[in-house]
Amino acid sequence: MNRSFPPLFLFLLLIGCARNSEPTTVATETADDDWWKESIVYQIYPRSFQDTDGDGIGDLNGIIERLDYIESLGVTAVWLNPIYSSPNDDNGYDISDYRNIMTDFGTMADFDRMLAGMHERDIKLIMDVVVNHSSDEHEWFVQSKSSRDNPYRDYYHWWPAEKGDPPYRYSLFDAEGNAWKYDSTTDAYYLHYFSQKQPDLNWSNPKLRQEVYDIMTFWAEKGVDGFRLDAFQFAAKDTTYPEFPGLTDTTFIDYYAMQDGLHDYLREMNEQIFSKYGVMSVAEGAGRNFEDAHALVDADRQELNMAYAFDGVDVPKYGGYALTTMKEVFSRWDAEFAEDGWLSIFLSNHDQARMVSRWGNDSPEFRAPSTKLLNTFLLSMRGTPYAYYGDEIGMTNIDFDEIEDYQDIAARNGYTKARAQGKDMEQFMRELNFLSRDNGRTPMQWTEGPQAGFTTGTPWLPVNDNHAQINVAAQEDDPNSILNHFRQMTRLRQDHPVLVHGSYELLLPDHEELYAYTREWEGVRMLVVMNFSDEGVTVDLPELENAEVVIDNYESLSRTGSSADLNPWQAVILSL
Ligand code: GLC
Repeated sequence: MNRSFPPLFLFLLLIGCARNSEPTTVATETADDDWWKESIVYQIYPRSFQDTDGDGIGDLNGIIERLDYIESLGVTAVWLNPIYSSPNDDNGYDISDYRNIMTDFGTMADFDRMLAGMHERDIKLIMDVVVNHSSDEHEWFVQSKSSRDNPYRDYYHWWPAEKGDPPYRYSLFDAEGNAWKYDSTTDAYYLHYFSQKQPDLNWSNPKLRQEVYDIMTFWAEKGVDGFRLDAFQFAAKDTTYPEFPGLTDTTFIDYYAMQDGLHDYLREMNEQIFSKYGVMSVAEGAGRNFEDAHALVDADRQELNMAYAFDGVDVPKYGGYALTTMKEVFSRWDAEFAEDGWLSIFLSNHDQARMVSRWGNDSPEFRAPSTKLLNTFLLSMRGTPYAYYGDEIGMTNIDFDEIEDYQDIAARNGYTKARAQGKDMEQFMRELNFLSRDNGRTPMQWTEGPQAGFTTGTPWLPVNDNHAQINVAAQEDDPNSILNHFRQMTRLRQDHPVLVHGSYELLLPDHEELYAYTREWEGVRMLVVMNFSDEGVTVDLPELENAEVVIDNYESLSRTGSSADLNPWQAVILSL
């Protein structure tokens, strides 16, 4: 069973317990329909990447300025978190106009230049599509709430007050945890699985669905190459509202995800958009179990291209994790998708702690080797890797003390709720310090200078003090830097299709410090050996005999015959 949504941290934080006609233009033509399998995706949180106008908020011109850098990384696609007009209750995941650019980020002309700049460099663009909900400031909702007989009423889910209290539903971002919000204008409640400013759209309404496809057509015709569907497995709702037994990891998924209708909507979207424009598609989450995941992404289903499952990042986050569990989870997913379907591989994103703080060791001593090791893993697994901005230089979690330091609505409302529930607030703050989404959203560290070269103004979220040590400029010219190791890894993956398509075999499954596997494809075999610990480890593997090192995050691998002594956090790939 996989429980791939929502990320466990949401529970930790929020329950306060610990969680037509032919298209006129077509997106970039590719010879290979499956280009997305060979892609290396770089995820950019635009708010935090590069500011060019001094307002402390990243912008599209900033991304344009950094296109050469992005190209130099060897990535082949960019996933951009939402850039549409938004009041920013949830940093752009609350959209008030799907056909416009958020003023903080720039203009449509900037967007067009950015997209052209990416395409000139053979970089594809994947846009975030947030259509489980809109902003309450979207015109649809303004109309919908204005009267019960407004034509937009059925774009959202309403519960008339005369029917009594609505059946309890849990909200992920609400300070009181209630997904129904009363609105006096029409004496009714509306449903919001996320914040009160993110009312859920009614996907059973064909008019709403057509509006969404029209919006996606708009972007596909601009030449966008892919879509990432945010929180989409919640889009179909069981509006008989069976009694919700209370929140646990399993009830949330069972009552909220993959409800009847979802596959129909995806097939319709595929027909109207994905297949018509040749754009790639990925949805956040991968259902309740492997069967769901396959039903979403197997090619004959004509729904989505690849799964983005959370079991990997849901390996216990706080207080350390067992490597054996991590290996078991990633290996299980690989085995399950060995024949049909395709996976995303990621260790961090904008909703997670920083990769090296979470999975590696972010102390000055081990930060560099452990980040390189994690990038070795990310770029040598089967599936499409998603590298998160800043992880290519080893950016770490930030240290916030006060709740006021946090910007994220999940942190702030989670705090209010935990207090109201009488939780141990010291413990809550310790966990927040490690798990908060703000950790993964601090500004990109370009230089050691003021505000890390991110802005000339005051950044919307503080720059990590460690930018003095961790920054792009310092790593550019150092051949042994984390950054240059990342570039070597992307090149290696691009030059060796075995790392993309090859079968995966886990070695030493019970070893508590070592993660080792082989990849094999068309007669080519590679061995990946990684020491996930602060201590040296000796390994004996018959495969090591006569194997040739192709990349190493240390200067050399000390070995004799089939035995090797690995340094702390050493990661080596060998050709067999
Ligand atoms: C997804 C996004 C997250 C957002 C939420 C609501 O989980 O990744 O950042 O807050 O959906 O849109």
